[in-house]
Amino acid sequence: MRLKGKSALITGSARGIGRAFAEAYAREGATVAIADIDLGAAQATAKAIGSAAYALRLDVTDQSSIEAAVKVVEDKTGGLDVLINNAAIFDLAPIVEITRASFEKLFAVNVAGTLFMLQAAARSMIARGKGGRIINMASQAGRRGEPLVAVYCATKAAVISLTQSAGLDLIKDRINVNGIAPGVVDSDMWDQVDALFAKYENRPKGEKKRLVGEGVPYGRMGKPEDLAGMAVFLASDEADYIVAQTYNVDGGQWMS
Ligand SMILES: NC(=O)c1ccc[n+]([C@@H]2O[C@H](COP(=O)([O-])OP(=O)(O)OC[C@H]3O[C@@H](n4cnc5c(N)ncnc54)[C@H](O)[C@@H]3O)[C@@H](O)[C@H]2O)c1
Repeated sequence: MRLKGKSALITGSARGIGRAFAEAYAREGATVAIADIDLGAAQATAKAIGSAAYALRLDVTDQSSIEAAVKVVEDKTGGLDVLINNAAIFDLAPIVEITRASFEKLFAVNVAGTLFMLQAAARSMIARGKGGRIINMASQAGRRGEPLVAVYCATKAAVISLTQSAGLDLIKDRINVNGIAPGVVDSDMWDQVDALFAKYENRPKGEKKRLVGEGVPYGRMGKPEDLAGMAVFLASDEADYIVAQTYNVDGGQWMS
């Protein structure tokens, strides 16, 4: 019960990695807001987790939705202790085919969504005066370029950078901001990635996913629950002196 009594909000936690975080947080004693743009899926996830979870509709691109979500958490639990900025979207195209619409959408969700969620959470935590934890989901894609993935890579590089700046700014208020950089994790997002690679690299469906899994030193793709230990640790008292870092949790992929 390393998170006993903590109140957490996890964006994009109706499914995938965010859902695995919510399940782990509930097991560790936290109360968790399953905050997702897909309210029906968020409600189903909250129901499956049980009384430690509740659903709310959140669109991280909408400032009033962000502020309303933080207010719900404050009213329901007495104050926000942990935010995980997990919601993100993916797209892929060669440089000469990138559209302005795709660029703007990815930056709106992955970068502006992360920053303004983080800001709203920080304002709430500062007003309460008890500090807090903020965990941003980056990616290996934020540490290097990829020929077809320029925009998503740029958004995740921005998340790593925001984690550094916000981490340095907010530690004076005892808010620790850190990040997690997964490698390849089997989720709905990766099904979309696989379908896009099938189109642009002319591969049969499922082949890219199989190949990237085989390329991970650990021997397989990650599962959402492989990331949960780090998310629990970064929210726990044991991580109190960790500031502005982004940790790889990737089965060794970055090193290879
Ligand atoms: N799957 C991977 O291989 C992988 C690798 C590295 C990093 N990541 C990162 O981990 C995080 C979770 O990824 P995942 O694979 O579980 O993704 P996913 O696509 O399976 O789930 C993302 C969730 O975010 C929600 N969402 C989308 N837009 C939203 C918005 N505007 N407001 C609120 N919620 C919104 C979706 O409804 C969905 O429930 C993301 O930040 C992703 O970039 C994933």
